[in-house]
Amino acid sequence: MKIAMGNDHAATALKLEIMEYVKELGHEVLNFGADTNERCDYPVFGEKVGRAVASGEADLGILICGTGVGISIAANKVKGVRAGVCSDATTARLIREHNNANILAFGARIVGSELARDMVKAYLEAEFAGGRHQTRIDMFAEIEERSGL
Ligand code: RB5
Repeated sequence: MKIAMGNDHAATALKLEIMEYVKELGHEVLNFGADTNERCDYPVFGEKVGRAVASGEADLGILICGTGVGISIAANKVKGVRAGVCSDATTARLIREHNNANILAFGARIVGSELARDMVKAYLEAEFAGGRHQTRIDMFAEIEERSGL
């Protein structure tokens, strides 16, 4: 799969490590994130990855900032994005199986590199379960319509 990745200065080292790991798992990485520790603004990267996923340029996305929260909020402002913040591998699997999340987000100041790898593997290997969950995904799109997105 093509995986879009983005991060701010709080997560550069972890992003570079996870980028290599995603490649080891057999995926292609599109790097939209910061590659230095120079202070920058996480909404920029959340939007870039959100647009890459929503447009189909990438199949899925991975976003990392200090907590994973700010960058996921930015991505979720892009129509069609379902980004979920995780700090355990079970949730990382379930956001794909139940929520059809097209972006996994986490915090470099919250999780260590082993846990980050476990979450990424669980997320990328999981599949959307469909069925009753699709009804709820359709409701997300209805909320977007009502919000004028
Ligand atoms: C940057 O200092 C920090 O605020 C950012 O990485 C993130 O944690 C925001 O949600």
